[in-house]
Amino acid sequence: MKQLLMCYPKYFDVLYDINPWMTHQIGKVSSDIAVKQWTSLFDKLNSLCRVNLIEGVPGLPDMVFTANGGIVFNDVAVLSRFSTRERSKEEYFFHAWFQEEGYDVFQPRSSYEGEGDHLIDSNNRHWLGSGFRSTKKAAREIENYFDITIHTLELVDPRWYHLDTCFLPLDNNTIIWYPKAFSHTSQQLIREKFDTLIEVSTEDALKFVCNGVLVKNDLLLPSGSKIIESISELGYNIHEFNLTEFIKAGGAAKCLVLTI
Ligand code: ARG
Repeated sequence: MKQLLMCYPKYFDVLYDINPWMTHQIGKVSSDIAVKQWTSLFDKLNSLCRVNLIEGVPGLPDMVFTANGGIVFNDVAVLSRFSTRERSKEEYFFHAWFQEEGYDVFQPRSSYEGEGDHLIDSNNRHWLGSGFRSTKKAAREIENYFDITIHTLELVDPRWYHLDTCFLPLDNNTIIWYPKAFSHTSQQLIREKFDTLIEVSTEDALKFVCNGVLVKNDLLLPSGSKIIESISELGYNIHEFNLTEFIKAGGAAKCLVLTI
């Protein structure tokens, strides 16, 4: 059964600027509101599947975004190699957690930010977003290590700097995505590979609607997007979460969760 990893937002804040969302938000996070928002997401997920917790670390405000710690598949944890100095100290703590849990750990040498950029769809196809945080080189390293194929997708707009901000694969070869976040070639590839494509407007993409978490038939989404009504026609139980404080750091529901 699906298990997740989250990190209580005790030390969450915006203390530096490494993506356009953080610009002008330094010191503007309400930590009380962040705790409430995180807790309602946690409570729902915890009612649907097992949620493990990793301890937060003072001075590492983005560690709440556990999606960036790595990715787990074939019983191996692929540990991230953060592209920014600000987040690279997190590697040590995610590595320690994976080791304590008994995973073999593989870490690419090139920049790679885990499930933020590397998603596995329900057909077991691997997708990696490159251009801002993760690299094609890292994709090749992971391909070689596991003997798999990874489709790399080129991200072109810094507001959608991680793949999970603009690409949400669902069941039945369906994708919710924001086409303008991708190069033309990558848009074409996505159009070829998925049967049902739900395109999101810029307005909704800016509300992080692609940053959802799917647990069986439950789909947890950041609130406030117009497209949610059409998404609900797909038959999922939709749950909306107000995640304003995390959006100030450039992340929402999916970023707060790592599948293990
Ligand atoms: N402030 C964090 C960063 O820029 C946000 C990470 C969001 N995570 C994600 N999986 N998209 O790294």
